[in-house]
Amino acid sequence: MSYPYQITSYEGYQEAWKKSVEDPEGFWGEVASHFQWKKPWDRVLDWNFKEPSVQWFKGAQLNITENCIDRHLADKANQPAIIWEPNDPNDHHRMLTYAQLHTKVNQFANVLKNNGVKKGDRVCIYMGMIPELAIAVLGCARIGAIHSVIFGGFSAQSIADRLQDANAEFIITCDGAFRGAKDIPLKNVIDDALISCKFVKRVIVYTHTRSAVSMIKGRDVWWEDEVRKVETAGNPDCPAETMDAEDPLFILYTSGSTGKPKGVVHTCGGYMVYTNYTFVNVFQYKPQEIHFCTADIGWITGHSYIVYGPLSAGATSLMFEGIPTFPDAGRFWDIIDKFKVNILYTAPTAIRSLMAFGLGPLQNKDLSSLRVLGTVGEPINEEAWLWYDEHIGKRKCPIVDTWWQTETGGVLISNLAGITPSKPSYATLPMPGVQPLLVDEKGVEITDNNVTGNLCIKSPWPATLRTTYGDHERCRTNYFATYENLYFTGDGAYRDENGFYRITGRVDDVLNVSGHRIGTAEVENAINMHAGVVESAVVGYPHDVKGQGIYAFVIYSGTHGDEDMTRRDITATVSRIIGPIAKPDKIQLVSGLPKTRSGKIMRRILRKIAENELDNIGDTSTLLDPAVVEEIKRGKV
Ligand code: PRX
Repeated sequence: MSYPYQITSYEGYQEAWKKSVEDPEGFWGEVASHFQWKKPWDRVLDWNFKEPSVQWFKGAQLNITENCIDRHLADKANQPAIIWEPNDPNDHHRMLTYAQLHTKVNQFANVLKNNGVKKGDRVCIYMGMIPELAIAVLGCARIGAIHSVIFGGFSAQSIADRLQDANAEFIITCDGAFRGAKDIPLKNVIDDALISCKFVKRVIVYTHTRSAVSMIKGRDVWWEDEVRKVETAGNPDCPAETMDAEDPLFILYTSGSTGKPKGVVHTCGGYMVYTNYTFVNVFQYKPQEIHFCTADIGWITGHSYIVYGPLSAGATSLMFEGIPTFPDAGRFWDIIDKFKVNILYTAPTAIRSLMAFGLGPLQNKDLSSLRVLGTVGEPINEEAWLWYDEHIGKRKCPIVDTWWQTETGGVLISNLAGITPSKPSYATLPMPGVQPLLVDEKGVEITDNNVTGNLCIKSPWPATLRTTYGDHERCRTNYFATYENLYFTGDGAYRDENGFYRITGRVDDVLNVSGHRIGTAEVENAINMHAGVVESAVVGYPHDVKGQGIYAFVIYSGTHGDEDMTRRDITATVSRIIGPIAKPDKIQLVSGLPKTRSGKIMRRILRKIAENELDNIGDTSTLLDPAVVEEIKRGKV
């Protein structure tokens, strides 16, 4: 497969961008014509940001798995679709060709059907990074069930909240997952979640770690047994369900500035076209290359650039179960050497943590197969960018700094590898079809360059989120109501003299810890559930490796144990309520919080304290009790 819509020069990029803005329907209609549709669209785009209502390829019908698998069987049946590297380097890796993936996805789609899953049903997937996770995702898409993947670092309570919100009656999980030296008991976590979710009808359990699990009669079944039944029935293909372009493909929960995560909904047609288009163009993918995205499929990056983007492009996607530092900090480099990886796509946090080990782990590792490097999830500092460029790319691999979000489905701002210019710590220019702009606090567009503002997008791209599951009004108020007729990203950005964008970070109460989004309100809610906690306020602070750390100021009236023990108890509570990923890095017990006379917490002051800018707190005269600030400053941890 070649990609007629692959941009091959800077001028080509400029032309594509211009055409996409002047004639979005013509532009995206042309790109979409290179996919397999069961029925063509009546209209390419219909939209207004007021409701909001965004519809791409209306009237068209398709199944995304036919585009990700079946259409490659003619010329790529024996090419690896997925290469899987296990957590333990002494275990065997696995390869699934497109033909094998086809068989497995069909089998599992039949398993889902046999277990009563129907088109439109919500299926929660809570698994480690094993090929069966991709098979589960694609099996759902095959029959038109809406998958909702939950990252393995979320707790039983978080899972229960998501199951209830989506009213998901089906779960796919494994006994456990390996992550470095840890064995995470996923099925046990699911069992805890299901205590409050009696509506769940079926749990399909894949055996991976072979840890002991309880299997409840009538509810829980083994994946392997169910597959065997399909095999015994002659292994029939599972016809790909006909989906409307605007039918939901998946829900993915993400944190916002309120306490409750939102179920971002993406649909079949636009998401497919956009993830494929951005994959092919940002990374400049060439047929046969091996693409290694180190994200977890529990996050949007894994959905779009391990599964749907690469597979729809007939690429070979490498999935890694483990972590960059296990069994040692040379693991990524070993994997690149072993499989002759061409594209490495990872997070700044991973780069920073590996940088800290020095150059030793790179010795005797052949990285010469690398052609393109990418980063995602958080701003990359210049030092990490330069290290990545010098020691990993050996100054010959373009680095793409890709800015996007769960809500955007695919990359919105990034350079195109080797085609458009890069600049350390800049995401640079928008993708074709994307019109970014900066606004001031009042929503007035800032047209100058060399300015900072709130980053908005003027018109829809094909993978725009369509709604937040079960609550469209929430989608409107969160993203489309802050500034009239604009999509508001929640990020701030700087635009330089060339019109290049540098993302400066969130401007709302959302933290970005190791590239993972966590709402401060969510963490506060969890802390406040701990017995003895009166009130809390959570802010971010700069962290050398994680980008941002979580700093919690807590008013605690309990008497149980010493301060250190209390901090550990609070951490355990957060871990239980949200999951280990939201554990505060620092907890300071305080007797009061800086509040205005109307009772609002002055987070600006707390942020300054957390950032250690103790002499630069600013005006405290409007506070109800300015003395509290001095006390907090003295007790800083
Ligand atoms: O703040 C931005 C940051 O990550 C946020 C989106 O998080 P999430 O929905 O979890 O998706 C992460 C993976 C796409 C954004 O609002 N972010 C993402 N990419 C970058 C970034 N910040 C700076 N530079 C990036 N390249």
